[in-house]
Formats: sequence, C-alpha cells, structure tokens
Amino acid sequence: MRVLGIETSCDETGVALYETGRGLLGHCLHSQIDLHAVYGGVVPELASRDHIRRLPLLLRELLAKTGTTLADVDAVAYTAGPGLAGALLVGSAFAESLALALDLPVLPVHHLEGHLLSPLLSATPPAFPFVALLVSGGHTQLMRVTGVGDYHLLGETVDDAAGEAFDKTAKLLGLGYPGGPALATLAQAGRPGRFRLPRPMLHSKDFDFSFSGLKTAVLNAASAPDFTDADKADLAAEFQEAVVDVLVAKSLAALRHTGLRQLVVAGGVGANRRLRDQLDGAAARRKATVFYPELALCTDNGAMIAFAGALRFAAGAPGRTGDGAFAVRPRWSLQEIGTPV
Ligand code: KG4
Ligand code: ZN
Repeated sequence: MRVLGIETSCDETGVALYETGRGLLGHCLHSQIDLHAVYGGVVPELASRDHIRRLPLLLRELLAKTGTTLADVDAVAYTAGPGLAGALLVGSAFAESLALALDLPVLPVHHLEGHLLSPLLSATPPAFPFVALLVSGGHTQLMRVTGVGDYHLLGETVDDAAGEAFDKTAKLLGLGYPGGPALATLAQAGRPGRFRLPRPMLHSKDFDFSFSGLKTAVLNAASAPDFTDADKADLAAEFQEAVVDVLVAKSLAALRHTGLRQLVVAGGVGANRRLRDQLDGAAARRKATVFYPELALCTDNGAMIAFAGALRFAAGAPGRTGDGAFAVRPRWSLQEIGTPV
C-alpha cells in the first residue's frame, strides 16, 4: 500500500510517500524559518497561508522525485493535531479533497504518534516494547510503548516542554528564532559548570519534568552587570547541561522501572548532540540501546505521517472514504488517541 503523508501542524510543510514492504519512497520538506524569523517566532496566520502556497508545489516535486503519479497513491494520511488550528486545517482540507477527488481512503494522524514511531523508519529499528522519550517544542513525555496505538504515559512536563525551554531561553539570550538549534550551537563554545543552574525535579522519584524555572535562573544570571558574550556561551552550555541531565536521569529511571532495554527518542530536541552523547553513554552502562530517527526526520516532516498512517492502515484502520468533510484537533493528547478526531 502506498500512503501519501501530509504534515502542516506548525512551521514546516511536509509531504512523503511510504510503501508498505518497501519503505520510504521519498519526502519533501519546506521550512518556514525565513518567513517567521523577522517576528522572532511563528506567526500562525502566515504559517497557514504559506502551507496553502507550498503544498501543491511540494506534492508535484514529490511525485517527480519518486517517479510516481497520483494514480499510484492508495491512501492519504494527514496530521489532524495537535498543532496550530489554521495550519492543521490547510493540511486537512488538502488531504481530504485529494482523497475525495481520487476516491481514496483518508486517515487523520496524531502528530506525536508520527514522532514516536519515526525511529522505526531507520535502518536499525527498535522492536516493541520500548520506552519512548518524546521531546518536542510542545511536549515532553516518557512513555511505555507496547505497540502501534498502545502508549502508556509514565510522566510528562508539568510546565514548559524541553524544546519550549530551549526556545524561550534562546530568546532571553538574544539568539532569535528558531532558538533550540541556535542555543545548542552556542553551548558548544561554552563550558558547563561555570554558572550553576538547578536540575529541576531530578530527585522527584517520578517521571515528571519541570523546565520553566530554568529560564528564570538564566535570566537572573544574564542580568548581572558584567555579563559578557563569553559568559553567554558558558550559560548556554550550563542550561543545555541542566536539561540534558534531567532528561537522561529520568529516561534511565524509566528503563529501570519498566525493565526494558530499548529507549526511543523522538521530537525536535532529539536532534541535540549533547543529549544524544549523554543518553548513549548512560544507556550503554546499563546495557540498553537508544534509538533515534534519522537526523533529518527528528523535526517535523511528512515521512513520519505517511509511515504512521501506513502502520495504522496495516493494523486494520479503515480510514474514511473521502467525503469532503474535514476536521482537526489542535489540542489532542496522545493518551486520547483512540477517540475520534
Ligand atoms: O518536533 P518539532 O520539530 O516540533 C514540534 O512538534 O514541537 O520540535 C521543535 C523543537 C523546537 O523547540 C526546537 O527549538 C527544538 O525542537 N530543537 C532543538 C534542537 N533542534 C530542534 N532543541 C535543542 N537542540 C537542538 N539541536
Ligand atoms: Zn513535531
């Protein structure tokens, strides 16, 4: 089965074709970074308009790149949530209209399920069950994953998500948008430990996180009158270290708690080099293995949506026949994935 995947939940437009039994045939991505950079963050209305402009072009590019035509597509999957309402509606309208015109089944997909399953697309995929650390711009969750659709929440952030903490701290330090990668780059030039930041909830004996206090601590340190550019790199390094320390400790505790030896990391923060190095080292000491999506598939993309859709169809999801109706769910927790969109 060839599934066309469509992702428009935030500031990336992504399309992809996944074929059951063969794998990912190709994917195309357009990032809106340049569009939003001048505003210092994502402007939802501009995001929606740009998705409208890009989707037909990206689809044409994908078909050319994979040597396919629309007649070769068997089903359509699209991100129905969570995300920006207007941006989601663009992807939904596009996918549902295509399905109606081509008389294909269409399936709304949960964005976080896409992230969660994306490491299964790699050359050496994990096998169920595994522990998943989902670290994106909007979510930070530890889960026990038993199979497609079977996600048991172990713990999550009580305030800011890890990516959100990176973005907000980057803004405080004047690094602009998108903050996470910029902060990580600056951290490479700094020394952790010169400034001392808290490791929130490190010893809370549960799997919950809290990152909002870190930015206040960063703001206090950066407000010192003699704060220099060299200090900024050291502070960035310490901030990154604090987030990484907590994510690593809780992920390892989750492995211990579940008795599992496979950890899957998904979501944009999973691209962070320091996080990967520290997780790999800590897991190896416990004879556990960490699985990541390919770097290009860590942040938002259409491939993970086509793939999650294909797995859902393979597991018996009927999909809707394209009836021209479309719906999105901007707020949609992964634990409510069984309830209809
Ligand atoms: O998964 P994603 O693309 O979008 C959401 O679904 O939220 O994640 C984006 C988040 C942003 O907060 C971004 O700053 C963060 O991932 N991010 C990083 C890095 N690359 C992306 N954070 C830290 N280090 C990175 N290298
Ligand atoms: Zn995402």
